Amino acid sequence: MTSSSRILEAAALDDRLEAHRRRVEAALAAALPDPEADGGGCPRRLAEAMRYGVLGGGKRLRPVLCLMAAEACGASWGEAVAPAVALELVHAYSLIHDDLPAMDDDDLRRGRPTCHKRFDEATAILAGDGLLTLAFEVVVKGVRPAAAAAECVRILAEAAGPSGMVGGQMADLQAEERSAEGADGSAGELESIHRRKTGALLRAPLEMGAAVADAPAEKREALAAYGRAVGLAFQIVDDLLDVVGEESKMGKRVGKDSGHGKWTYPRFLGVEGSRAKARRLGDEAVAALAPLGGRGEPLRALALALLEREC
Ligand code: IPE
Ligand code: IPE
Ligand code: MG
Ligand code: MG
Ligand code: MG
Repeated sequence: MTSSSRILEAAALDDRLEAHRRRVEAALAAALPDPEADGGGCPRRLAEAMRYGVLGGGKRLRPVLCLMAAEACGASWGEAVAPAVALELVHAYSLIHDDLPAMDDDDLRRGRPTCHKRFDEATAILAGDGLLTLAFEVVVKGVRPAAAAAECVRILAEAAGPSGMVGGQMADLQAEERSAEGADGSAGELESIHRRKTGALLRAPLEMGAAVADAPAEKREALAAYGRAVGLAFQIVDDLLDVVGEESKMGKRVGKDSGHGKWTYPRFLGVEGSRAKARRLGDEAVAALAPLGGRGEPLRALALALLEREC
């Protein structure tokens, strides 16, 4: 590819990402409880904490992947906006809880104090609970037909639940404890943690986008394989950015993983080894898109851009 076509490709991806992000922001703001509303039953403080945890920052990667997957299968982005919102609600909940003192104990997220710092721990726990529950309400009310809604609920529940994100978070904390006892693990165990704690919620958008588009099996499998590769690559780059990234760009503290004894790719493979592994996964993601033909192009460009991200 020539350098001018690479610049054109990057500009086209930026435009598409920006348009999708605007749609997602508007839909998120509409889905969250309104602190000013009277009589809805949601306490004002809870509504404020939920909105604080979701709005005003974040790359919105999971929702964008969902909209792009639906488009890659011939549906319109509007058909995928409810699952896209639900994914971001679950992701935001996972970040609020991840930052709690009992977990990663962080004070900065998306360039602002973490939810428990801005409010308090009990409010942050309940805001996370509220977001997780609201996500399923959004899917059931917003996805048609009912069979597609049920499929989206299954995909999201599996990805977020005990064998997905929550299980990965548990394993991440147990690995940290093993580090404190001087024990180390295998590369396979590290991969299993990352695939669950982060990979699962990055593969789900692809599967949900394909589900709302009622895509044939070949396309669903292609998108799931793409999501599986991108999901692991994404956490490898997150680990790398904790070592080589800048706090001002990331909006979160850097250099914390080694202090906590986290199992990370840089710790197991070094910085260059981790970069090489992420690149291989990027190639795997792009190769998986073959059955989508030209319609897979935005996802191809996004997978490559994610390898170069600085935040
Ligand atoms: C951060 O996710 C946590 C991980 C799973 C690595 P993101 O990097 O997508 O965070 P936001 O949503 O853009 O803040
Ligand atoms: C987070 O992984 C995975 C989640 C389920 C939120 P990290 O703990 O590495 O995410 P950051 O670095 O705090 O964003
Ligand atoms: Mg964590
Ligand atoms: Mg963390
Ligand atoms: Mg991290």
